[in-house]
Amino acid sequence: MTLPNEDFAYIQKLLRTQTGFLLAEDKRYLVESRLEPLAQRECLDGITNLIAHLRSHHFGYLHRQALEAMMTHETWFFRDQFSFDALKEVALPDLIQARKLERKLCLWSAACANGQEAYSIAMLLREHFPMLLNWKLTIVASDFSQAALNRAQEGIYGDSELRRGLSVANRNRYFLKKDNGWQVHPNLQKMIEFRRLNLIEAWGNLPDMDIVFLRNVLIYLDPEARRQILEKMQRVMRRDSYLFLGHSETPFPIQGIFDPVHFANTVVYRLK
Ligand SMILES: C[S@@+](CC[C@H](N)C(=O)[O-])C[C@H]1O[C@@H](n2cnc3c(N)ncnc32)[C@H](O)[C@@H]1O
Repeated sequence: MTLPNEDFAYIQKLLRTQTGFLLAEDKRYLVESRLEPLAQRECLDGITNLIAHLRSHHFGYLHRQALEAMMTHETWFFRDQFSFDALKEVALPDLIQARKLERKLCLWSAACANGQEAYSIAMLLREHFPMLLNWKLTIVASDFSQAALNRAQEGIYGDSELRRGLSVANRNRYFLKKDNGWQVHPNLQKMIEFRRLNLIEAWGNLPDMDIVFLRNVLIYLDPEARRQILEKMQRVMRRDSYLFLGHSETPFPIQGIFDPVHFANTVVYRLK
């Protein structure tokens, strides 16, 4: 089927206003492949009926489900190893030195999807910075998607997900074998605070951040949403903090707020 123009335009607008997500004209197939299963689940006769229902009702449950269905949660453990090298070799040693009196660090995985990014950070901290166990350490993991957050919090991954980026040694050290996959060890899980947070809405109370991973989300958002998020980010980040963006997100217009700092194979950002 071909999605009528007005239905596609409606979904484009719903995504943009609710999440900042910019759905390109050539992504009609994505609307069809993501919303058809939702229509079936909700016993609506096809995507046309689903969108007719959305268009004729105030924002509610089904709109949220449609937005959830349109999100892309692609992620893996230690995604972009160079970011994690810079975290381990530069950002953490620097901030541990700078915070040695207050003994407090806050890290944020700001679009954590199914949790692999936040757990990778937690594993790296445990593995290489055991002295931080006596510090007040906060790792916040947030996402727009409640479904992704539920998965992240549950922390159960299949073999194919674990194979993406996780060594067998780390799997055996930090995961417990269950009937339905491998579950993150409670000691690692309890290092992380999960919360639902839409980056284009008010952020509520967040601690001042020392390190933020905001990776592979801005790339999906419209330029105005990106600008607003980076401006808000500036307000929650401490003066000497570090911002990590996704590998392909480096050319974003963040001049005026953050400066790029180049390391061997990656770039991190610091407040101007
Ligand atoms: C591709 S994943 C990135 C996961 C991880 N940061 C990484 O780099 O592997 C993008 C995530 O951004 C989330 N997202 C999209 N729009 C958002 C918004 N407005 N606020 C918060 N999260 C959003 C999606 O739900 C999805 O889980």
